[in-house]
Amino acid sequence: MTDRATVLIVGAGPAGLVLGNLLRDKGIDTLILERGSRAQVQARARAGFLGANSARVLTEHGLGAGLARDGQFHDTCAFRSEDGQFELKYSALGRGEAHTVYPQQNLVTDLIAEYLDRGGRLRFDVTVTDVDPGTGTVGFRHQGGTGTAQGQFLVGCDGSNGATRTAMPAALVTRYARDHGVAWLALLAEAPPSMPAVTYAIHDNGFAGHMARSAEVTRYYLQVPPDEDPEAWPDERIWAELGVRMRTEAFGPLREGPVIDRRVVRLRSNVVDPMQHGRMFLAGDAASLISPSAAKGANLALMQAEVLGLALTDALTRDDERALHAYSRTCLPRIWRAQEFSHWMITLLHGPDAGDPDRDFERAVRRARLHSLRDSRAHQDFFAENYVGI
Ligand code: APR
Repeated sequence: MTDRATVLIVGAGPAGLVLGNLLRDKGIDTLILERGSRAQVQARARAGFLGANSARVLTEHGLGAGLARDGQFHDTCAFRSEDGQFELKYSALGRGEAHTVYPQQNLVTDLIAEYLDRGGRLRFDVTVTDVDPGTGTVGFRHQGGTGTAQGQFLVGCDGSNGATRTAMPAALVTRYARDHGVAWLALLAEAPPSMPAVTYAIHDNGFAGHMARSAEVTRYYLQVPPDEDPEAWPDERIWAELGVRMRTEAFGPLREGPVIDRRVVRLRSNVVDPMQHGRMFLAGDAASLISPSAAKGANLALMQAEVLGLALTDALTRDDERALHAYSRTCLPRIWRAQEFSHWMITLLHGPDAGDPDRDFERAVRRARLHSLRDSRAHQDFFAENYVGI
């Protein structure tokens, strides 16, 4: 028997859950199929920095209670290098916007509870294996058996390696992709933040980053070779290298604690154009993966979920498909702006490879770029507008 839904959504990450909530708010019948268990999805620690548009999306659609209660206002970042440290208070620059720090686990937990409260259907431990964009049908595996589900509309929110993106017909879509040749060892430490601000450290050994998550847990990043084994980094080595790159001799010690999660993330970006085919639409990482250098992934996902949610609502409640037809056209310019800025951040944070014959020149240019950001108000406004905005 085929499960039917007006809107069938694959994936219960930030994109799928925000979309499901928006549609349920208008009484539209939805079914979400999710590969992981509820516990797994709610424990996944990934994004945490929500820009002004994301906070607006959540608040305006009645999804912002947790954010308002526990989210932390964040409006300053710092850069450290051989020339010292400077801070940018970006709420006083550009458009005057700030971040709210709210860990993804909390956001996803809130969104699942609210979605079920709104009468949404959600099935965990269901892996979609086949996708037919033309009929909006998917095949899935569940507890050793198989099944099918069909939606009047089908939305792929199953991330960058998901089944829906793969089902986009090769001849009709352009796939833009870039491997930036850089990787980060992404770390979660059970330790309070060491500094008040997000801190980007630029060093000949490679980039290091510090990002607050909560009073108990802090995110750090260390640039490593793309094929690095995370197990090569025991806690002592991590703290020693963070100390070197964060220049703790000059700026004071880090607040150390056990490292509870370590994984290597390759900095990759890709975009699928168009983001729709037949009855199927892609949103979030399924449509466009962005490198984490400017913390844009979840913010892009929420932007797309809102645009698509409103467009599907128009189509299903007012028989008006104009916004739906314009979905790719509306989202892609914003996605590319974010990709451009993220790429700019990559060139700011990472030095040339040791073997690069133009290494000295590249280092000097990067240093000048950093000086420009430190000294030029126009450059700072550009940074602030793009860093927080979509
Ligand atoms: N069948 C069912 N579910 C699937 C399948 C599949 N074949 N493949 C993946 N999924 C599920 C994953 O288990 C995951 O829960 O789809 C979900 C995708 O979620 P995310 O990867 O978080 O993607 P998205 O919702 O687009 O969020 C994008 O949020 O996590 C942050 O910054 C991160 O950029 C990312 C952003």
